[in-house]
Amino acid sequence: MLEGRVTRNGETVRELGTKADLERDDVRVDGVRVKAPKAPVYLVLNKPRGVVTTRSDPERRQTVMDLVPAVAGLFPVGRLDVTSEGLILLTNDGAFAERVAHPRYEVPRVYHAKVHRVPDAQALERLKHGVKIDGDFMAVDRARVVQADNNAWVEVTLHEGKQHEVKRLLEAVGHPVSKLRRVAIGPVTSRGLEPGQFRSLTPEEIEGLRRGEAAAAGRMRRLAGRRPRPRAKDATRGRAHEAARGRSGGPSRRAGPRKRGRP
Ligand code: URA
Repeated sequence: MLEGRVTRNGETVRELGTKADLERDDVRVDGVRVKAPKAPVYLVLNKPRGVVTTRSDPERRQTVMDLVPAVAGLFPVGRLDVTSEGLILLTNDGAFAERVAHPRYEVPRVYHAKVHRVPDAQALERLKHGVKIDGDFMAVDRARVVQADNNAWVEVTLHEGKQHEVKRLLEAVGHPVSKLRRVAIGPVTSRGLEPGQFRSLTPEEIEGLRRGEAAAAGRMRRLAGRRPRPRAKDATRGRAHEAARGRSGGPSRRAGPRKRGRP
């Protein structure tokens, strides 16, 4: 400061102890802007069906941002189709998002898919060996049937992150998907989180995601062993509306007025 290298809103300030608000004031050292360090935020939301994974939607549909608190710089990590439900991470930490979303780091994602008919061992093997679809080679790390009658719920684990990958893969082996839920991302599982609810990640989960860890084997077995819950369409829609309106429902629902209406 004494050397006249610091400016506040274009004025050189030399007096030691001069105050500035880094959120509002333009403070520079040698002409380089000094930014306020932002507290990193790491959330996991159980996205309901019908909600769009984007920061803002030109069609003004409800987005994941409507279901979590307004935090500067917050954005969803990766994508989940509007017709899918399940876990989506949100953060304002770009390096963390890159680490989690990039296939190179192989963070496993686990999905429960309701499919037409029951895949046999050969179909599951094809998923693991991989299928070329529209020029994209896609494969799952694991696949198994977790519930079956006329149709089936299948659990698949992948680490790629290609668009519509689960639906495209299952359709390619003859089992189109009618419902899709993401139930785990690395060590983070949907246990205890109803559609429309969110929570902060624990320090262990943040560290585990950075290291590309999967959920603990025991936890994954319990998760996989659970019968996928059938859910009434209306109940899901009701929860999404309720969450967006900030009605009570536990600490993990967003409080505050709904920003946008559904058409
Ligand atoms: N794969 C899909 O097909 N859809 C999703 O939403 C996520 C993965």
